[in-house]
Amino acid sequence: MKRPLRLSLFLMLIGIFVLNACANPTPTTQPEPDDVDSQLRTIIAAKGLTGDPSIGRDLPSIDDPLPQLGLKLFYTQALGGQQDSACVTCHHPSLGGGDAIPMSIGVNADNPELLGPGRTRPDGPKVPRNAPTTFNSGLWDQFMFWDGRVESKGKTPGANGGDGFGIRTPDTPYGYPDPQAGANLVEAQSRFPVTAEAEMRGFDFGADTGNTLEVRDENTRIRLAQILGDYGAERGTLSPNNWLAEFQKAFNSDQPAEELVTFENIVHAIGEYERSQVFVDTPWKAYVQGDDDAISEEAKQGALLFFGAGNCSTCHTGDFFTDEQFHALAIPQIGVGKASGTYGDDDWGRYLETQNPDDKYAFRTPSLLNVEVTGPYGHDGAYATLEEIVRHHLNPEKAIDSYDFSQLDPAIRTVNAERYTRQALEQVKKNRENGIKTVSDINFSDEQVASLIAFLHTLTDPCVKDRACLAPWIADESVPDPDGLRLYAVDAENNPL
Ligand code: HEC
Ligand code: HEC
Repeated sequence: MKRPLRLSLFLMLIGIFVLNACANPTPTTQPEPDDVDSQLRTIIAAKGLTGDPSIGRDLPSIDDPLPQLGLKLFYTQALGGQQDSACVTCHHPSLGGGDAIPMSIGVNADNPELLGPGRTRPDGPKVPRNAPTTFNSGLWDQFMFWDGRVESKGKTPGANGGDGFGIRTPDTPYGYPDPQAGANLVEAQSRFPVTAEAEMRGFDFGADTGNTLEVRDENTRIRLAQILGDYGAERGTLSPNNWLAEFQKAFNSDQPAEELVTFENIVHAIGEYERSQVFVDTPWKAYVQGDDDAISEEAKQGALLFFGAGNCSTCHTGDFFTDEQFHALAIPQIGVGKASGTYGDDDWGRYLETQNPDDKYAFRTPSLLNVEVTGPYGHDGAYATLEEIVRHHLNPEKAIDSYDFSQLDPAIRTVNAERYTRQALEQVKKNRENGIKTVSDINFSDEQVASLIAFLHTLTDPCVKDRACLAPWIADESVPDPDGLRLYAVDAENNPL
């Protein structure tokens, strides 16, 4: 990692902000409205922001044939080893493209169709992390997952990993491209949920356990394709089964199932569905593109803090509001953990991939587009509100001191949650001493925190809060169901999502 270069850029930026701040001696004095617009327009120009991170990208429309097939695949529990979990289980459009609970519950839910708060399973979640939104997943160019275990080798801006340099996945050692990864990062990612036991595969999907995990996973994928394609050893598993006709239509092909309903084509279609979820029409975009009235005065004050004294934009950079890099922030470590530490119930994040001690407890900077609807927040959903996660950034130690670990459902939390969180805090302190990018303590008034949050709200595309606008991405009764295994999601009150 090129820390020194990034550090000097960082210092340069701080320098620029210090210079700016000189015109405004007391940090609590807020600039006059006219000044605010001109200051923001200066920042926008200096950073080259366009307001629209989808510009220049080759992204499908939900009306295209492949995303239409992907939509149906995303909603079928036939891709779950126990037929009780689908992609949509943890990534529902009405729930911000996630599942609105701290850590996901996939297989063995008490009610598989109940999504969001109220979703339970007998012995608690087994998934260690919060489900990120699938919205705008076609805008990532470097990494997928909180720890970046799916990685574009080329990292070409605008390419979504499809630049021909290859994509590394958990199926290949760190650093090596996976020949099976497919066309882009999103497609490469889609190969993995079906093999994860707690997410979709289940704990006893047949007797196909190979000699190694890789063999077992590959067998799982082949079997799922046979189930949908109704061929080979799995012929007759689904009834009804109209997938072949759907694939022939989407791929405009009359090939037989063995050649068309392959795992590669399944994940390609799913990826195209996700990549069609482009939600970037935000008030902030309208503001950047010239409409001074698109956001409130309070939000403008928040924007000044975001790009200025708050330092937020040093990590939440550019129009997509992420540097796609990994940083330790010591967000409370509350989950079942991810094979880290003596008991395996800690989560060392990026370190698990790189083995670089500087990466311990580091997680990928999330995009902040639509952040209003993607809670709970942090890699394990430790914070329910934007205010809490923002305050954590401003002073991690204070936030951890006041974090109530006892409020956590014992089924969710590791008994070591507080200890690991303190270890993560030590990592943050060490990183600060060593000049490794992390958050610094910043003293903001309640009013300033409120304006930062008002700014974050301007990053929401209104479509993601509007069921009618989201309808094209939701497979309800109006969309043909090829196998009778569609997940028709409901909330805790039994209302359809
Ligand atoms: C049980 C819940 C669950 C199910 C089912 C599930 N996911 Fe996820 N998904 C998650 C979690 C949790 C993560 C984050 C894991 C991590 O980063 O370690 C994730 C990560 C992702 C990401 C990465 C987003 C990013 O910003 O890096 C994408 C894309 C995604 N899932 C798509 C899918 C697809 C496609 C399917 C179906 C094939 C699926 N998911 C099934 C919970 C789930
Ligand atoms: C040093 C880099 C860095 C800086 C500076 C930074 N962030 Fe973050 N931010 C992150 C990372 C990394 C995460 C995820 C951390 C985790 O989950 O462990 C995150 C998470 C968030 C989230 C939660 C998003 C989600 O989907 O879970 C919000 C909101 C947020 N940051 C806002 C801000 C604001 C506002 C500021 C300025 C006050 C800021 N960030 C400054 C790196 C940074």
